[in-house]
Amino acid sequence: MPLTKVKKAFVEQHRTQHYPKINAKHKLAMDRNENPLLPSKRVQDAIYQEFNQLSRYPENSGFKLRNALSERWDLNPDYFLIGNGSFEILSLLALVFLDQDSEVIVPEGTFIWHKRFSQFNGAKVINVPLNQNFQIHLSHIVDAITPQTKIIWLTNPFNPTGTILKKQDLLNFCSKVSSDIIIAIDEAYIEFANLKSEATSKQFVIDFPNVILLRTFSKFYRLAALRIGYAVAQPELIQTILPYRIPPNHNRLGAVAAIESLHDKTSQKETFSYIKNEKEYLITELEALDFKVIQSETNFLFISLEKHPSDFIEKLAEEVIFKDGQFFGFPNYFRITIGNTEQNRELIRLIKKIINY
Ligand SMILES: Cc1ncc(COP(=O)(O)O)c(C=O)c1O
Repeated sequence: MPLTKVKKAFVEQHRTQHYPKINAKHKLAMDRNENPLLPSKRVQDAIYQEFNQLSRYPENSGFKLRNALSERWDLNPDYFLIGNGSFEILSLLALVFLDQDSEVIVPEGTFIWHKRFSQFNGAKVINVPLNQNFQIHLSHIVDAITPQTKIIWLTNPFNPTGTILKKQDLLNFCSKVSSDIIIAIDEAYIEFANLKSEATSKQFVIDFPNVILLRTFSKFYRLAALRIGYAVAQPELIQTILPYRIPPNHNRLGAVAAIESLHDKTSQKETFSYIKNEKEYLITELEALDFKVIQSETNFLFISLEKHPSDFIEKLAEEVIFKDGQFFGFPNYFRITIGNTEQNRELIRLIKKIINY
């Protein structure tokens, strides 16, 4: 096939990894960090209303959604780029800024698509170990910068460990990085940590022309099926990416649902306290069973297996879909998404059965 050298190496490396095995026996799916709650009635009604427009293309630039975001963030609409999920924007960033002479830096174990999209474009991925508290090690990342570094991919809070960086530490870090390097801060889970996170995050894009924040409506806002994500950055950076976007890249139902979700403060508070309460329940139960749980600011937990039998993961995998820590390079851990009340109790029941509690 007429593949370029870079594409050929990539395809050969990833060809066999496409279709996950689904085991029909699985009782619980707790691997994708989705929100266990459905969109509110108010958001569902807004989606139904839009059915009258299904024969029409979406407005190309996401004008109405960018205006709603502009209000929410108190930033000009030109600071926003809408994507078909934040996945699309991650892939665009790599497409625009990377080639086979580039390096990117990622924290060890990071969200796999930051690496994958970089490798699509031939870039070399440099992994930097986390600190002993499973947090991104910012000073080691600064040390890993070379003249070839083009993007530093951070996730805050970090996926898979759930830990968060302090705002001031992250600001200090950004001031040490040359403005020729893109700092992509993926904030897919930040609303679970802070209901007013926009006010905190805004400073990064005001102070630094090379910082781009990635946000999504898939997690906190309960809209994973409708594929809406967005980026926030200074207009010049947004305008550099725009020519590579496929128009129109997002759908009408997703756009109206996202706008309504931004206005629906009741649902936001509901998600925030629901996940907080379920998280507390799971941590209490797991700790009582001798598991060590890393402090999480997200809707998932990263759990140590130290004190449990070596076949625990295999047995749990017979009944539950979750992420084995091995997948991220942490063999004695597993990551579990916080489910609904029923699922979380069922999970604890299954775990107790496996360890004969
Ligand atoms: C860190 C991170 N970024 C981005 C995404 C993708 O989000 P979206 O649904 O907006 O494409 C995920 C999904 O799991 C994620 O964990």
